Amino acid sequence: MCGIIGYTGPQAAAPILIDGLRRLEYRGYDSAGITVHSRKKLLSWKAAGKIAVLESQLPETIKSNSGIGHTRWATHGAPTDSNAHPHLNSNQTLSLVHNGIIENADTLKEALLDDGIEFKSETDTEILVHLLSRTVNDNQLSLIDAMRITLSKIVGTYGIAAISNSDPGTLVLARNGSPVIIGIGQGEMLAASDMSALSRYTREVVHLDDGELAVINPNGFEVSTMDAIAKDKASITLSNSTEDYDKGGHKHYLYKEIIDQPETVRRTLSGRLNTRFSTAHLGGLNLDPRELLKITRIKILGCGSALYAGMAGSHMIESLARIPTDAEAAAEFRYRNPVIEADTLYIVVSQSGETFDTLAATREIQRKGGFVLGIVNSVGSTIAREVDGGIYMHAGPEVSVASTKAYTSMLSVFALLAILFGRSRDISPQKGTQLLQELQSIPEKITAVIALEKQIAAIAKKYCKCHSAFFIGRTSAYPVALEGAQKLKEISYIHAEAYPASELKHGPLALVSKDTPCFVILPDTDLLLKSVGTLEEIKARSAPVIAVTDSNNKRIDELADHVIRTPTSDPLVQGIISGIALQLLAYHSAVALKRDVDQPRNLAKSVTVE
Ligand code: F6R
Repeated sequence: MCGIIGYTGPQAAAPILIDGLRRLEYRGYDSAGITVHSRKKLLSWKAAGKIAVLESQLPETIKSNSGIGHTRWATHGAPTDSNAHPHLNSNQTLSLVHNGIIENADTLKEALLDDGIEFKSETDTEILVHLLSRTVNDNQLSLIDAMRITLSKIVGTYGIAAISNSDPGTLVLARNGSPVIIGIGQGEMLAASDMSALSRYTREVVHLDDGELAVINPNGFEVSTMDAIAKDKASITLSNSTEDYDKGGHKHYLYKEIIDQPETVRRTLSGRLNTRFSTAHLGGLNLDPRELLKITRIKILGCGSALYAGMAGSHMIESLARIPTDAEAAAEFRYRNPVIEADTLYIVVSQSGETFDTLAATREIQRKGGFVLGIVNSVGSTIAREVDGGIYMHAGPEVSVASTKAYTSMLSVFALLAILFGRSRDISPQKGTQLLQELQSIPEKITAVIALEKQIAAIAKKYCKCHSAFFIGRTSAYPVALEGAQKLKEISYIHAEAYPASELKHGPLALVSKDTPCFVILPDTDLLLKSVGTLEEIKARSAPVIAVTDSNNKRIDELADHVIRTPTSDPLVQGIISGIALQLLAYHSAVALKRDVDQPRNLAKSVTVE
């Protein structure tokens, strides 16, 4: 949410900042700006709208070798030129970009206004730069020392990059709750809120932790605490390549990420299928078999699609391992003062590993003594670093705002966990072997669903003008319905609701009519006939029915207007397979409606604010 980029080195800074912003644009895209050092001056450009608007306003050449940039997702103040970052102090000697929220902004602003400071924006960030300026001037301090004093007055979250005209080539960084990564290059240094902006220049990075500040210049970096104690931070080398952040010749990242899923799931499963003992092998779990056996309950926490993946995961684990398991929205959980139990395993799920609510839930559980296992995609992210045990998804960077491949990899990890827990309790080696074979078949089954794209695109085109759509699923198919509705609403803006099949008749049926297409997910389980009954109910209200099923039941063909027939699968993986069809449906609906597929309105990837 919002993106920060910084550069210092021998190269021209502005093109690097703009390139970084373009790669960060998925984190926020309502306005953008840069400030560069140019001799002893700071030069700044800001513009509402996408990076292309900012770029069109820049002079052809800007002589500068260092600077900072920002792409914004508005919290305080509308997306306007003046609210765009960077923000500068009154005499234009300091410039600063900020992700996060300053909670005591109002009080601080009042004091600054009383002192005669003129504000140019409605943002909380501008308060920071005026406070910083005053601290530098009053005490004749270096930027880093003034930053420490300034931040000690702040209540809230921040990832910050700041520069001063008096020290060209030096950037000061700070983090509390909002990611900041230092990129170590050859004779150059970068800073960013997210690896995507750094991968073209370096894979060697240092993640700042909360409460840390850093100074970077072309020769290196120094990290220190709020008490000015130097910290020795080791760098890590990440394996992501630049291509991971490209569209691979496709029009949209989302499309690339959907069709990449046979490969991304293969990566998630790679090295984790223990055929010798018919179980799963998950190295980062940090729980030995005895500890696994002691678990009496599992609680899964996440937000949005990660929560829906958790709901699907709870069905997988409970049905195979017979451990009571449920999933809950991370923020709801942490705010209801939850009871933390010693024998409960807490699992947090997050693509970005930076979602504020999920991170806050993690910390709340750990503070009360609970063990937290993380299922995370982004390597080295805050949640990945803070959990007690972790499983990386290895889905590769997900750039499009709507989650697809990471969601599918979350489900694949849950399938692995379900087999692991199941084999430590209820299920036989024979059943374990059969389930491992099912997992191995996921990539080819996903490929088979992708082959149905033409049919799915035609269905999308036919119904994309509707005002409302329903997604219906029973038990394990309900989370699939939730995620299907989520994908459709977020990228096509069609109002979509998901209901458990049994709930339809308790209210929502009043809305079902010939104008509301109903997407019904019918896995071939022993509950199939009950779900066919749901089709009858919907059809009796003349609504168009699109069935997504791996069953050959004839009545489905008679009742449904369209049948998207997915490969026959074990219930453990059926949600993964049918989910792909719903992703394609959402994608083609959004394309037919000419929506901004990768950057849907009002949304941003990686929600690092509350
Ligand atoms: C939906 C979507 C969001 C995220 C949610 C959690 O397509 O992308 O609902 O799933 O914001 O994000 P992570 O997984 O990064 O914690």
